[in-house]
Amino acid sequence: MPENFATIAYIVAAALFILSLSGLGHPDTARRGNMMGIAGMLIALLATAMAKDFMGYGMLAAALIPATIIGAFLANRVKMTEMPQLVALLHSFVGAAAVLVGFATLLGPHAEMSEAEHLIHNIEVYIGVCIGAVTFTGSIIAFAKLHGMIGGKPLILPARHLFNLMLLVVSIWIAVMFVQAVDAENITRAIWLLVIASVITGVLGVHMVMAIGGADMPVVVSMLNSYSGWAAAAAGFMLSNDLLIIVGALVGSSGAILSYIMCKGMNRSFVSVILGGFGAAEGTAVAVDGQHTEIDVAKTVELMCNAKSIVIVPGYGMAVAQAQHTLSEITKELEAIGVSVRFAIHPIAGRLPGHMNVLLAEAKVSYDIVLEMDEINPDLPNTDLVLVIGANDIVNPSALDDPASPIAGMPVLEVWKAKDVIVMKRSMASGYAGIGNPLFFKDNTQMLFGDAKKNVDAILTAYRSR
Ligand code: TAP
Repeated sequence: MPENFATIAYIVAAALFILSLSGLGHPDTARRGNMMGIAGMLIALLATAMAKDFMGYGMLAAALIPATIIGAFLANRVKMTEMPQLVALLHSFVGAAAVLVGFATLLGPHAEMSEAEHLIHNIEVYIGVCIGAVTFTGSIIAFAKLHGMIGGKPLILPARHLFNLMLLVVSIWIAVMFVQAVDAENITRAIWLLVIASVITGVLGVHMVMAIGGADMPVVVSMLNSYSGWAAAAAGFMLSNDLLIIVGALVGSSGAILSYIMCKGMNRSFVSVILGGFGAAEGTAVAVDGQHTEIDVAKTVELMCNAKSIVIVPGYGMAVAQAQHTLSEITKELEAIGVSVRFAIHPIAGRLPGHMNVLLAEAKVSYDIVLEMDEINPDLPNTDLVLVIGANDIVNPSALDDPASPIAGMPVLEVWKAKDVIVMKRSMASGYAGIGNPLFFKDNTQMLFGDAKKNVDAILTAYRSR
């Protein structure tokens, strides 16, 4: 393919990626956005494979065919609730790729460069490998934490900030030695220095994510998303591939914006999350004692029929139980008799950004009745009944009134201000943050125990046979 065709193909692909991101910003246009992203990636792939001097078709096929099969298999098999771990794992691949590209660039043939260009190129390689290594190990730890292979409790080493600082300073020192070694054409020494730098920044990645508490994991997921974008951009610089730089920058900056939104949703500063240690107070606010009241399905239906306004708060348990379709049916039934039903979405409900919105959209719940936390909170004191379905941390009042709580300061859905609250879950167990929830012991709260899907099915049946 002539070079100018390749350039045009790259520009079209870059435009499609930008349109894809803007499409993904709203549920109405998300499907179209997704298709544009797929089209952009196909064009990018074809343009790369058809480039003038591209020879490695065998290698490309050997990488692409098994990867496509594994990817399609995983995407089909993975449950919606396991998506964050999959995303974390995919981020680790980007990190590993950036590290490998760095080594390959160092070992491979070089184009003619001026002295200044050579210096910049070597710095690019070094930074690319370091960002890649942090992303790789950090994402593996995030995967293990999200998959429950490692506990959510933050690892708080003594003098941990000093330790991080030391790793950073040593990496900078090695960078200087690396550039000198490449300049002196001592490639063996350069490779060893790059290996040491990968190990050091890899340890930094492990330590950084290990130090972040369970409740702050949403920020970690979006932060690693951002890192993976910068790692891809760094690989783009090393390979002199403009499209990879553009795509990396898009992913990197959108991940950074998402991290900011997550931090705002949790009332955390980004720096404090990165420095870790939240959730360190685990143990102080873990258990909450009191007497809870139980309710059965028949009484739940009675309360629902007597309510004029109902707010449904879905959480991770709704996703696990896949209760959204029945909930959508119940909503339609209640709306038919004039009850106002709305859904309240916390920005970190579930296990990935927009988790609840996706499930409700899949169950064809109208977007007009799906409200964000800030929109619904002022209305909760005027609400007759709140149904909390498989949610826990996002409705925990201790975030507002217990300064010792690991989630202190995090805005939550203030459901206890409604007239009545019914919490549907299987037991009195805690949620992801591992802390007790005083909501369950409030006078206006009643617990409906059992699997969320079984309970909402029973509610729908009881409602229809009234
Ligand atoms: P959680 O606080 O994790 O609470 C979910 C509750 O659902 C659990 O207490 C569990 O109680 C219940 N549950 C589980 N399976 C159920 C089933 N089959 N039927 C009924 N109930 C079931 O969830 P949340 O309120 O949505 O809060 C989200 C949490 O995840 C936050 O701590 C957040 O920091 C964290 N997190 C979020 C993200 C993103 S980006 N959203 C990413 C990583 C972590 P039982 O066991 O008693 O049933």
